[in-house]
Amino acid sequence: MKKSTSVFLAAVVALGMLSTTASADIKKGQKGYLKKCKKCHGNGTKGSAMKTQAEWEELFANDGKNIIAKHNGTKAEKYFNSKSFKKKAVHIKDFLYQYGSDSGNVPSCG
Ligand code: HEC
Repeated sequence: MKKSTSVFLAAVVALGMLSTTASADIKKGQKGYLKKCKKCHGNGTKGSAMKTQAEWEELFANDGKNIIAKHNGTKAEKYFNSKSFKKKAVHIKDFLYQYGSDSGNVPSCG
């Protein structure tokens, strides 16, 4: 393969990956929400509508400091202070933000 062709192909692949990650993260976050938050906060529609987009931004800022603080002293404390939450937090935030109460969006399945 000529070098210019492979560079072009690499760029196409990279672009394709960029555009799919955005929505994949929301799906991932929705999955994470359903697995970890639903039992206490209800389905994804209800959960994401707990807060506005700005409030979700705020809760998940600084590695989720505020949302972790909200759960200290609850049964979810251990989960919020775990590595598993750290890893999923960005995706869960993407999901909640996407469907925040002032977003005008509603998840198709909760
Ligand atoms: C074991 C149950 C439990 C789990 C699991 C849980 N929460 Fe909570 N959450 C609570 C309790 C209890 C509170 C504090 C009381 C309240 O405001 O409802 C709370 C508070 C909150 C608040 C603040 C509500 C407010 O009024 O300010 C948000 C936002 C929130 N949780 C989101 C989440 C998200 C997102 C997840 C999943 C990553 C999650 N919670 C998982 C029990 C839980």
